[in-house]
Amino acid sequence: MRTIIEPFRIKMTEALPVTTRAQREASLASAHNNVFLLDAEDITIDLLTDSGTGAMSARQWAALMQGDESYAGSVSWRRFESTVREITGFKHIFPTHQGRAAERILAATRLKPGDIVPNNSHFDTTRANIEYVGAQAVDLLTPEGQDIYSDARFKGNMDVGKLERLIETKGAKAIPFCMITVTNNAGGGQPVSMENIRSVKKTLGKYNIPLVIDACRYAENSYFIKENEPGFADRSLMEIAQEMFSLADGATMSAKKDGLANIGGFLACHDDEWAEDFRNMLILTEGFPTYGGLAGRDLEAVAVGLKEALELEYQRYRHATVDYMASRLIERDIPIVRPAGGHAVFIDAADFCPHLKPSDFPGIGLVNALYLEGGIRAVELGSVMFGRVLPGTKEEIAAPRELVRLAFPRRVYTQSHFDYVIEVLDLVWRQRGAIPPYRITKQAPFLRHFTAHFVRGDVEPC
Ligand code: F0G
Repeated sequence: MRTIIEPFRIKMTEALPVTTRAQREASLASAHNNVFLLDAEDITIDLLTDSGTGAMSARQWAALMQGDESYAGSVSWRRFESTVREITGFKHIFPTHQGRAAERILAATRLKPGDIVPNNSHFDTTRANIEYVGAQAVDLLTPEGQDIYSDARFKGNMDVGKLERLIETKGAKAIPFCMITVTNNAGGGQPVSMENIRSVKKTLGKYNIPLVIDACRYAENSYFIKENEPGFADRSLMEIAQEMFSLADGATMSAKKDGLANIGGFLACHDDEWAEDFRNMLILTEGFPTYGGLAGRDLEAVAVGLKEALELEYQRYRHATVDYMASRLIERDIPIVRPAGGHAVFIDAADFCPHLKPSDFPGIGLVNALYLEGGIRAVELGSVMFGRVLPGTKEEIAAPRELVRLAFPRRVYTQSHFDYVIEVLDLVWRQRGAIPPYRITKQAPFLRHFTAHFVRGDVEPC
């Protein structure tokens, strides 16, 4: 059959808020033109993130009821640990309440000021946790990966030549570990090939530098490998995931993505000394090592979800939904990152709004237009999220790209929801010249996108 169907049916529904344009204008104004500050009840289709927004399966809800809430030695912890060990093979596994808690423990225990952490592309929280301890986060994407419109297959790959040059110039001692993010969220949800992970590992091995996988979307990456990398077509997603993790010395994970859960994560490693430090910091900031900031029932839901994410029918449907949207936008000449990523469609806001400069924040203009036109919430991944103000000045340093992400919550929206999004985008595309510039009036020193206030730059303040 040519039609790829949702491999589930719907047992419970949740009403979608439908609003008028006047209501949306008022809501956006009171949210200081920042969609992060909107109330969810004012949003019709929420594509802000694929993180923690998925629908759990009947099996996950059933597992939830088995939650053992014992403070120490919970049965749910054992189930969580054995599932994570089956998939990743790591000796030491620590539950955390989400991905950034794992990143924080890793950065706080292993880094000192002046250290360097390479990655294909750091996600915002990973970068912020590294910078918070005074270390430097360096992105080493391949030239292909930096080219938005190249249809190359593994555009999340790390540039191994650049990695080797960085190690040679800075010295291995300055690099306590290297990371690789699968899939590469900041760069368009693009996958990393097994061959690339293997050659990154080989290069690091020469200098005794450990490799840590940011594994948030490990199952989506495994599917890309199965579909597109020679030699993997007959391997199961579980086998591919196991091979990927076998190349790493540690992993950080947000179970809010490919754990198909609403909360949760973990940190894992082989090294006993690392584990000792992680355990001590975990107890200080997250909780006892058999729950780490999670309820027993959350551990159960994650244990089931991690396996469901590796089901082939599920991944086939998931990738088909992203492809469906991507191909319809390409048909309309709407500029998007190609090929389609695993969890989202990324629009190139710089090309969408050629009349705006990076300092006009074209991504914010596009995100706000989508909300005003159709009640859709997207997110900017451009100069607000990744740019910064030059210290001691008011000068903005632009990000390398101005992207807007439409992230797909897992198992939540149907094809007609996506048809609606395509129709709204089509309308905004035809009126793109009217998208205004925005200016920041208030911002935090870290992760400013979450709380910044904006005003329209084409309207005089009263
Ligand atoms: N690493 C990557 C690649 C991520 O995409 C995220 C979160 C994290 C780490 C942190 O995990 O949210 O559980 O603390 N990404 C979400 C997103 C927020 O919208 O892409 P977390």
